[in-house]
Amino acid sequence: MTATSTPEHHVPADLSDRIAYGLTRLLRFFADAFFARRYGHRAVVLETVAAVPGMVGGALQHLRSLRRLESDRGWIHILIEEAENERMHLMTFLEIARPSWIERVIVLVAQGVFWNFYFVLYLLSSRTAHRLVGYFEEEAVLSYTEYLAGVDDGTYRNVPAPRIAIDYWKLAPDATLRDVILAVRADEAGHRDVNHRLSDEIAAR
Ligand SMILES: [Fe+2]
Ligand SMILES: [Fe+2]
Repeated sequence: MTATSTPEHHVPADLSDRIAYGLTRLLRFFADAFFARRYGHRAVVLETVAAVPGMVGGALQHLRSLRRLESDRGWIHILIEEAENERMHLMTFLEIARPSWIERVIVLVAQGVFWNFYFVLYLLSSRTAHRLVGYFEEEAVLSYTEYLAGVDDGTYRNVPAPRIAIDYWKLAPDATLRDVILAVRADEAGHRDVNHRLSDEIAAR
């Protein structure tokens, strides 16, 4: 197994971590119950949520830098880029799975709830907010690892990679879904490490 398929798990160290981890496990339970093994659909719906925290965090770090008249230490760019990267995951998986009407409703409701929830959480504790995303990303790595196993054992057809994915990750012209999942999973592992690190840095202030 590669490093990205065995996520480093941040062991919850205190109440802030335990809240972030508990919430992640709860949401994972509902996601598993609803999507089961429909990984294409799971990816589409959950990537619409995954693209939110970076934009919220980026905007709030931007305002913090303006308000406190101090450097953002490069955080704004990192977070906005994360949001853009997650949106590209969404654009990619839309070529693989078209959401049902119920999934479109979930996307609408989830965005309304999650944007506001994450915004308030970030204001209250940016440390917990980044930890939460770190844990979400741990789960994302696991889910894409399961998706990959399903492609490898023939459960899901290893269709040609969508054009948008080939262009974005500069994949080979004959790249397949398998290559796309590997690229996306590597992105998620990167987000996981970055968000856990940002949370650690806030805690160390
Ligand atoms: Fe993603
Ligand atoms: Fe992610």
